[in-house]
Amino acid sequence: MKYFVKRIKNKALRAKYNLPTYEPKQLQQASKMLEIHSAWKGLEQIIPDIIERFNLNTDSCLEFGTEFCFSTVALSNYFDKVIGVDTFIGDDHSGIKQDHYESTSESVEKFNNIHLIQSTYQEYIKNNEDQHDLIHVDIIHDYKHTYQCGLWAATHSSCAIFHDTESFMEVRHAVYDIAKKTGKKVYNYPHHNGLGIIV
Ligand SMILES: C[S@@+](CC[C@H](N)C(=O)[O-])C[C@H]1O[C@@H](n2cnc3c(N)ncnc32)[C@H](O)[C@@H]1O
Repeated sequence: MKYFVKRIKNKALRAKYNLPTYEPKQLQQASKMLEIHSAWKGLEQIIPDIIERFNLNTDSCLEFGTEFCFSTVALSNYFDKVIGVDTFIGDDHSGIKQDHYESTSESVEKFNNIHLIQSTYQEYIKNNEDQHDLIHVDIIHDYKHTYQCGLWAATHSSCAIFHDTESFMEVRHAVYDIAKKTGKKVYNYPHHNGLGIIV
């Protein structure tokens, strides 16, 4: 019963925070991938299409929320440098964990274009005016943090992408509001739990 109520509620929220669908022209397999579980799996196939469609440079990518670096490694196929920022202690949605910064750093040692930073996004963005070609936001999936981190991301990148627009309506709501606030274009790729795209 609870499940059906949630489904109906989410359907209404999807309609309220309506985002145009992103239709990739091509799906491409990535050669460097980690063999671990991640809800992000599959999205690596549309990154080249996003780069081409929006004419993005590929010098610098920043990611907020790396966890065990599935998406970080996927992104490292396409950008000269990928900076991954995470507390490495998890959160209420992805699960609270023992500090795994050391072990995760070791697991991506061989990818020499990945640079991991143990920090909250709040500390990282303080007085930080760096610009990046792409920023990926995949932190705790509540409205407040997705909006706060995502607004900074959208104003410090050519393109900001947000995971879980289909599975967390608060993420979708934040993406919708950030696009409105910045006046940027917004799309949603509805597969693999959803990817919001702000350009
Ligand atoms: C859903 S996981 C990221 C999954 C990863 N992108 C992947 O594809 O496998 C969310 C991550 O966000 C991190 N996180 C949550 N709140 C954060 C914050 N305020 N600052 C930095 N990282 C945060 C958590 O530690 C967790 O590792």
